[in-house]
Amino acid sequence: MLQLFVKDETNALSAGQLEKALADAVPLLDACRAGHAQYADSLGWLRVEEWAGEQKRAEIKALAQSIRRKADAFVLIGVGGSNNAARAVLRALDPAGPTQVLWAGNTLSAWEFNRLLEQLEGRQVYIDCVAKNFETLEPGSAFRVLRQYLKKRYGEEEAARRILCTGTPGSQLDALCSREGYAFLPFPPNIGGRFTALSGVHLLPMAVAGVDIDELARGAAAMEQQLRTQPAGENIALRYAVLRWLYGRKGYKAEMLSAFEPRLAGFFQWWQQLFAESEGKQGKGLLPVTGEYSEQLHSLGQFVQEGTPLLFETFLDVKEPGAKDSLVIGGTDVADGFGYLGGKDFWQVNRASFEATRAAHSQVLPCLTLAMDRLDAFHMGQLFYFFAFACYLSAELLGVNPFDQPGVEAYKQRMFRALGR
Ligand code: PA5
Repeated sequence: MLQLFVKDETNALSAGQLEKALADAVPLLDACRAGHAQYADSLGWLRVEEWAGEQKRAEIKALAQSIRRKADAFVLIGVGGSNNAARAVLRALDPAGPTQVLWAGNTLSAWEFNRLLEQLEGRQVYIDCVAKNFETLEPGSAFRVLRQYLKKRYGEEEAARRILCTGTPGSQLDALCSREGYAFLPFPPNIGGRFTALSGVHLLPMAVAGVDIDELARGAAAMEQQLRTQPAGENIALRYAVLRWLYGRKGYKAEMLSAFEPRLAGFFQWWQQLFAESEGKQGKGLLPVTGEYSEQLHSLGQFVQEGTPLLFETFLDVKEPGAKDSLVIGGTDVADGFGYLGGKDFWQVNRASFEATRAAHSQVLPCLTLAMDRLDAFHMGQLFYFFAFACYLSAELLGVNPFDQPGVEAYKQRMFRALGR
């Protein structure tokens, strides 16, 4: 289970301030648990059962199994909420395969695309174009190139058997699939991209890669149950949301999510999109930034400790080592000045680095710790639900709509004009 702690030697909040704000937020917690009527078309994620229940998972696993039989390279074409959650899990858990998931449609870089095409050489390929709106340039252009690639390689008929699209029923993408004979998986109509982690959009690529999606859903459902029943004073999502809000009002303009596991880098991207698009509007919101430690202690660490005091920090702490989390450094054959490391395990050294960093940072800025027992499918499910619900609460505290992203249209209109659309 997840636990949330505060370590703050600066005493940014006065005594009783958090407890009072939590008590004041009881009606908000109740409203978010029930779901606001005006967001009914965006709250399909609120009950894990709706899009990640047993029946849906069985269908996803059967489809994944048929894809695994056909392909050892599964290309997921998608951007933002259409790829971040699956990418986060695959990067964090590194499933054994044998089918590898590769990513397209998240960049306009020709170099990246050429590299992907090289990686596909000699492999059996299957593609999934994920796009709720199918207007976004990155997945649209990538799908065009990969469709043609498959047709050239396999011929029209076999190419069609190797293409799946995940989109909105009735959309242009749906019509294209009917015309061309491609398989079609409905994108949940009542969830926006960045909230779809616990739906077929992401569970399918995870299952194709060999992730235990039952465990992921079990973790999310357990977190849902916890957040639905924990009273406001103990509710960890409400606590996290209220702390963010109080720190924001104190003048902290950014939250840094930090961890000492580089394999959480994909998760950082998911978290960053969730909070940036949900909160960053009407001149409000905390800038979500991330710290990939220990490497970035040698760059951002200086700024965090002594630079402009604009951020507070949330550490993601993995408490127990997994199967591959141990490596003893051992002795040495030469005098290298690192004698104090002899016999120590990297796990232990990494934890010492974490404890020291948190102790140093909490002298100058508020530090939260979100601790999880292990980094596995169950806990990834917990994290997804925890942050989605906390983000909903947090946006409501700010008074912004958590489920739209009108700001991204401004650059798109200019870009479409420049490209002659
Ligand atoms: O959260 C959202 O809804 C968005 O950020 C989308 O995920 C993103 O714009 C990609 O959308 P689409 O897959 O429809 O192209």
